[in-house]
Amino acid sequence: MYRTTKKENEILTRVSAGTPMGELLRRYWWPIGISAHLKERPTYIRVMGEDLVLFRDAAGKPAIIGARCAHRRANLCLGDVEKDGIRCRYHGWLYGNDGRVLQTPGEPPDSKLKDTIKHPSYPAQELGGFIFVYMGPKPVPLLPRYHFLAAEGERHSIVQGFGKCNWLQATENGIDPLHAGFLHGDIWDAVSAEPETTWFEETDLGIVYKVIRPGRKPGEYNYREHHLFMPGISSGGDASVSEGADNPPPDELPAVTARWSVPVDDTRMMHMRVFFKPASKNAKPLQFKTLSLAQTRTSPFQVEPYGEYQNATGAPTLGYTIPKSIGGEDAVMLDSMGTIVDRENENLTVADESMEMLRKMYLKQIEVVKQGGDPLGVVRDENKNQMIIAGGLYRWISPDERKQLLEKAA
Ligand code: FES
Ligand SMILES: [Fe+2]
Repeated sequence: MYRTTKKENEILTRVSAGTPMGELLRRYWWPIGISAHLKERPTYIRVMGEDLVLFRDAAGKPAIIGARCAHRRANLCLGDVEKDGIRCRYHGWLYGNDGRVLQTPGEPPDSKLKDTIKHPSYPAQELGGFIFVYMGPKPVPLLPRYHFLAAEGERHSIVQGFGKCNWLQATENGIDPLHAGFLHGDIWDAVSAEPETTWFEETDLGIVYKVIRPGRKPGEYNYREHHLFMPGISSGGDASVSEGADNPPPDELPAVTARWSVPVDDTRMMHMRVFFKPASKNAKPLQFKTLSLAQTRTSPFQVEPYGEYQNATGAPTLGYTIPKSIGGEDAVMLDSMGTIVDRENENLTVADESMEMLRKMYLKQIEVVKQGGDPLGVVRDENKNQMIIAGGLYRWISPDERKQLLEKAA
């Protein structure tokens, strides 16, 4: 049986600059904001342990620089955006949107102080409703144009929620076929039955699991292909996007919902999610589009020793009730595993093959980066980036289709 060692776990979970995983993850673009939310005021964010401020410059372009003012460390999110950049509210230092210090009030006019300061700044781009950041070395790779970000269709991009847990356990949840029936079976009938067959494959972009379950009626099966793309994007069909499009024409783009587990720091992560339906005559409108932030956000409660007593004013109600939403169920479970899972104490099953594949894939790609190469999924060729059609399937299939799939898998 495969088991991750304590040392490997340490490597896989730490995300700061200079750590092996931190360096690998910095080779990719990460969604860190929602385009529509960023207006004239700057905002404070944290990505992979780095405190940053996100703002729109005078030209309307997103910019990302270090949050701590180089003068005396005030947070620049309290500052004001001006024609040339952002001005610290405390003593008025001015920064360009590339992080260059342009003015240093308090210094004589001929001061060279500003030229000696290297303030952090990172490239930002917008696509599919998100703002993305790239925090790795130059040359900057292309922002991958996955179809769920770039294709024509209906799209809803959200900050789904936050976890008080490491990014990796959240990422692993996205490629975990076994949990779906047990954790979500109460509200998601298509996955409530135990899988009949599950198998795993490596892809050009990462890993896929394929699963066949008994369907809603005799002679019908539910078939899902659920992908994980580097650096950890979970992408698959589900009832929210596939309804009405669950037997799409073969040339139609997959209706998928994709999720990033963005590392905020070692012990916190943010779920960013996009729901995508291709322009299709079969597809019904996205139900999620009409929901408010409060309705789609998953804010997990924490299980803690004697937790029920801590806020009780009378006799406490012992035990916990998980909210009935797929995202909420995942979020509560992820935080319950502890901030960083002690993987050396796991006992993995055959159905956990994807955990082994994923962790080995990360360790291998860490070595690629150490050797100076581009890891899996980094795109530099414009021609290959017109549109990257990402997989993800959720379909009701017949016994014949099932037979064909199983023959192909064998
Ligand atoms: S702390 Fe920002 S100008 Fe002084
Ligand atoms: Fe889940």
